[in-house]
Amino acid sequence: VVPLSTASRDPSFINRMKKTKKNVAVFYGSQTGTAEEFAGRLARDCIRYGLKGFAVDPEECEMEELTRMGEVESSFALFCLATYGEGDPTDNAQEFFDWLQEDHDLSELRYAVFGLGNKTYEHFNAMGIFVDKRLEEMGAVRLCTAGMGDDDANIEEDFVTWRETLWPAVCEHFGIESVGEEGVMRQYTLEKHEDINQNEIFTGEPTRLNSLTQQKPPYDAKNPYMSSVKVNRELHKGGDRSCMHIEFDISGSRIRYEAGDHVAVYATNDPSMVEEIAHLLNVNLDEVFTLNNVDDEAAKKHPFPCPTTYRTALLHYVDITHPPRTNVLHDIIDYASDPKDREFLTRITASAGKKEFAEWVTESHRDILQILKDLPSLKPPLDHLCELLPRLHARYYSISSSPKEHPERIHITAVLVDYHSKIDRRIKGVATNWLATKIPNGPDGPRVPIYVRKSPFRLPFKTTTPVIMIGPGTGLAPFRGFIQERHHAKAEGKPIGDTVLFSGCRKKSEDYIYQEELEGYEGDGTLSQLNMAFSRDQAQKVYVQHLIKQKSESVWNLLNDGAHLYVCGDARHMAHDVDMVLHEIVEKNGNMTQSQAKDFIKGLRNKGRYACDVWS
Ligand code: FAD
Ligand code: 2AM
Repeated sequence: VVPLSTASRDPSFINRMKKTKKNVAVFYGSQTGTAEEFAGRLARDCIRYGLKGFAVDPEECEMEELTRMGEVESSFALFCLATYGEGDPTDNAQEFFDWLQEDHDLSELRYAVFGLGNKTYEHFNAMGIFVDKRLEEMGAVRLCTAGMGDDDANIEEDFVTWRETLWPAVCEHFGIESVGEEGVMRQYTLEKHEDINQNEIFTGEPTRLNSLTQQKPPYDAKNPYMSSVKVNRELHKGGDRSCMHIEFDISGSRIRYEAGDHVAVYATNDPSMVEEIAHLLNVNLDEVFTLNNVDDEAAKKHPFPCPTTYRTALLHYVDITHPPRTNVLHDIIDYASDPKDREFLTRITASAGKKEFAEWVTESHRDILQILKDLPSLKPPLDHLCELLPRLHARYYSISSSPKEHPERIHITAVLVDYHSKIDRRIKGVATNWLATKIPNGPDGPRVPIYVRKSPFRLPFKTTTPVIMIGPGTGLAPFRGFIQERHHAKAEGKPIGDTVLFSGCRKKSEDYIYQEELEGYEGDGTLSQLNMAFSRDQAQKVYVQHLIKQKSESVWNLLNDGAHLYVCGDARHMAHDVDMVLHEIVEKNGNMTQSQAKDFIKGLRNKGRYACDVWS
């Protein structure tokens, strides 16, 4: 069995370029795979311009070689870089980011950057912007203006639009005239296995064969722990939504966590969707296959662990529920036998069809199954589809327990994703609906692959430092862990500082999660203030920021006493609205000008006294 990634690859990308006659290195800073996917597409674009490109993980090569790009004739580098958290680089681009802090001579480098970010976050595309600017400062030649992808709107459209400016700029810079055909090029070839030992077939492992059945610590993203679900209970008391309290057993696993960390869950797609896709494409789901990269030098030999069955690929490895990107539909046009379907797909995947694509695919939330149903003549081979669809990635949850009170359990608080799309199709979130089926049924419980991801979201070191926690809805999750920490400290007789919570939900009688616990903590003095905003219990909306405003003086006094502020939950509106109110309070109660208040809050952030853990 060929390992998924070849660790023995030459870390010198310059050597690899020389050896394989490549002239375009496409680096990606990717956390969930989108930047990596875009990098792969850019590398493939190169062929059309008589260039040879390859996608490179900055973590796996010597980025200082960017100073030696002149050794490869007519070469340039492209960067697809995602921004995470509070303007941070992705894990695999961290070292590159650190390297850029020093001065280097990059006068031999020609480059272009595409950033992947989300406008709902304050530090929109910080990484892409930084790299684009920093490379130029060090003498590199920018080939075209950086692209700024916004995942909150339509990042695919942003990418395609940027690409339309990139390639003409490249052609002009290098004097490239002849543009090749726009044919579909496969990145992988299909190998079928008729006679294969069952032990050699991947059955959902993210990386190592049999890692889910032969478990060995330490556990991480490549080697998740099969944790037993010990509790899975409903937190809502009424209404038509659902919020789950789930407890994962980690006893004996050597997994450690701290309050504020995240746990990642590898979920599985809905088996009925998988069956439907197979039925429409007339495929035997138990067939065993391998997809081999046509480029021997490529970092990724296979798009996902192979050999595997189509069933496993569709259940565990590829994303079949998010609306596909333009390139997926573009590359399968020829598999539509009806000229009308071909014409339609050609139109919406062309540059002029962006709006129609956005409406028909993205905004209507049409997944690949719905598209195959709506265009009945479209019959792509399943192996080609598996090559094109992005990887199904792990979902993160803020851990809602403290290891001080629950050393052998990790708790999460997850709201079920279940809504109707614009075309009135019912959309069910992959991970939450899968978790909903994981009901403990015996001593061993159902098992779920998880790993812990460390977070900088932490309580202050001293238990006496006051804290103000702001988290409506599931934004309460990490604060439940924080409150348990303080409760534990208090029980040990340690003095604890003011512990103030602002949380909220729609209706007190329906979705007030952990009500009894919170009231208990208020009663025993662990919580010095329990402020709940019930948004739909009266005619006018009441949100956390309204309660914060009502308590302006107390909030301001706590800040003066050195309080740490925390915001968790919805990144789209809440975090921003809360931030505005905090600015108002500082300005008014601290007698400051607008710009002084801004500096004051910035100071809090820089000192680690104002932290956000938000998601959209
Ligand atoms: P998916 O299949 O991924 O579908 C979700 C997608 O559906 C969304 O991205 C959105 O595009 C779309 N969508 C959802 N609802 C609607 C709607 N009403 N209208 C239109 N589109 C919609 N979640 C928690 O519940 N609790 C937590 O503590 C928590 N912590 C998190 C911490 C971090 C750091 C991050 C990044 C995320 C966190 N999340 C948390 C979110 C969680 O990771 C998942 O995104 C969420 O559970 C949905 O996953 P899913 O697979 O069920 O849905
Ligand atoms: P709503 O749905 O009634 O508008 C958890 O989701 C809680 O956060 C709900 O009570 C929700 O109210 C509220 N919420 C919605 N938008 C918000 C915002 N911009 N700021 C603060 N809370 C908000």
